[in-house]
Amino acid sequence: MIRLKNADQIAKIRESCQMLSGLLEALSPLVQPGITTQDLDHFAEEYIVSRGGRPSFLGYEGYPASLCVSPNEVVIHGIPGKRKLLEGDVVGLDCGIDLGGHFSDAAITLPVGKISPEVDGLLTVTRECLARAIAAIKPGARVHDISRAVYGHAVSHGYGVVRQYCGHGVGLEIHEDPQIPNYVSPGPNPRLVPGMVIALEPMINLGTGDVRLLDDDWTVVTLDKKISAHYEHSVAIHADWTVEVLTSWTYPSTSR
Ligand code: MF3
Ligand code: CO
Repeated sequence: MIRLKNADQIAKIRESCQMLSGLLEALSPLVQPGITTQDLDHFAEEYIVSRGGRPSFLGYEGYPASLCVSPNEVVIHGIPGKRKLLEGDVVGLDCGIDLGGHFSDAAITLPVGKISPEVDGLLTVTRECLARAIAAIKPGARVHDISRAVYGHAVSHGYGVVRQYCGHGVGLEIHEDPQIPNYVSPGPNPRLVPGMVIALEPMINLGTGDVRLLDDDWTVVTLDKKISAHYEHSVAIHADWTVEVLTSWTYPSTSR
C-alpha cells in the first residue's frame, strides 16, 4: 500500500530531512585519514539526539548503530567499528532520522583525502544517476522510468548496478511501498503521483553489480571486492507536480 502524504505531512518530513542534510554536511569534514567508522557513528547519534530526533536505523531489525558506514568494497549497511579510514578510500554514509514520527533517509559517498581518477569517475556518475532518477519524475511516469534512467546511465559507463537492494517510499515509516529498483525489474510498476515521498538510492559498482552478505548479516560487499558508490535523497512530489529534493545539500567536490 502506497501512503500518500498531504502538505502538512510533507512539511514535517521536510524538517526531518533538513536535520539529516545538516548532519551529512557536518560529517563530511570529519571524513579524514585516521578517523574510525565508529567515531562517525557517535557523532551522528549525538547530533540527532541533541536536536530532538531519534536515529531511525538504531535497532531497526536489530541494526546496532545510528549510521551505516560503508568503505570501499562495502556497498551498504556497513556496521561502524574500529576500522580506520585511509587516504584514498571512499566511504558511504547512510542515515535516517525519525522526528516525531516523520522519517528521512539519505546517503552520500565521500573521498578520504585524494582518490584516484577512476574512483572519482564512479562517484560522479553515481551522483548523475541520482540526478537522472529525480529528473525522471514527471506526470505520467512510473517507477520503472526511474529504474531505466539509473540503469541506462550506469551501464553506458561500464559500471555494475546492484539489483538486490533498492529505493523505497519513505516519510511515515523508514521503508514504505513502492520499491524502486535501480534496474527495470519484473516487479510492480506503479504510476508516480502527487503526495508520494520516495527515497531514490542508486548503488553503482566499478566492477560487477553482484554482491554478497558478510557473516554479520548486515554488511553488503561487492562480489569482486571492487569499489562501490551510493547516494540517496528523499524526494517529495507536490500537488502541482513540483519535485522537491527534501534532503538536498551541496555535494562537496570529490577532489576536496
Ligand atoms: N538506509 C537504508 C535504506 O536506505 C536502510 C538502512 S536499514 C539499517 O533503505 F538497518 F541499516 F539501518
Ligand atoms: Co533508503
